[in-house]
Amino acid sequence: MTSILNPSRNNLVHNPVVVRESSLRAESCMSIIVAMAKNRTIGINNTLPWRCPEDLKHFKALTMGHHMIMGRKTFESIGKPLPGRTTVVVTRDRELNIEGCLVAHSLPDALAACSNDSQIFIVGGAEIYAQAMPLVDTLYITEIQQDVTGDAHFPHVDKSAWLEVAREIRHQETPQALEYHFVTYRSAHINSCKSKALGKN
Ligand SMILES: NC(=O)c1ccc[n+]([C@@H]2O[C@H](COP(=O)([O-])OP(=O)(O)OC[C@H]3O[C@@H](n4cnc5c(N)ncnc54)[C@H](OP(=O)(O)O)[C@@H]3O)[C@@H](O)[C@H]2O)c1
Repeated sequence: MTSILNPSRNNLVHNPVVVRESSLRAESCMSIIVAMAKNRTIGINNTLPWRCPEDLKHFKALTMGHHMIMGRKTFESIGKPLPGRTTVVVTRDRELNIEGCLVAHSLPDALAACSNDSQIFIVGGAEIYAQAMPLVDTLYITEIQQDVTGDAHFPHVDKSAWLEVAREIRHQETPQALEYHFVTYRSAHINSCKSKALGKN
């Protein structure tokens, strides 16, 4: 049983939340949003390996008002529910409850908790991205134009399965010099991802 005194989880309390199975809206879009380096690094020591304030604004603008699905480790790295959005935390710990968030015990259960939202965002980390990749129809990737050292990586993207539909080139000098691109990819195989997500085909 998870201890409330465990300092790495000291913002978490018990009383499991039961996530009811329900259908996703037929027209729901499921997207991954991620910032990744050229070598696919997305994190180090359970935090982001760069500082890019405009990317955080981009993340906020895209996700505002919607459901965000994240792994328990990513939630711990953020430390609190983000305002204006519904946070769904995925964990295998059935004792875990997190104030202000929904808790789900599998990715299909997390998606079921997002019913009635037209835009569902998978926001990481590496474990959750790897499981969600076959299910999503859109990738919003902030492509950091350099290799970065890290211990969490985005899965390989088969570019033949994705169409690039938008690319915005950005630079910053502070807080660190970075070139980064906001890129949107749409799946070449959009159909049936919702039923796959819910394990219905
Ligand atoms: N650059 C970016 O855009 C970005 C975005 C998000 C995160 N990150 C980075 O990614 C790193 C964290 O990624 P991570 O892979 O270590 O952790 P993660 O994916 O955030 O969380 C992993 C945890 O999710 C739960 N989980 C995973 N699959 C599950 C399943 N099928 N059913 C139930 N629970 C499941 C487990 O929680 P329990 O152990 O509680 O069972 C597991 O330990 C950090 O460095 C973070 O900063 C980067």
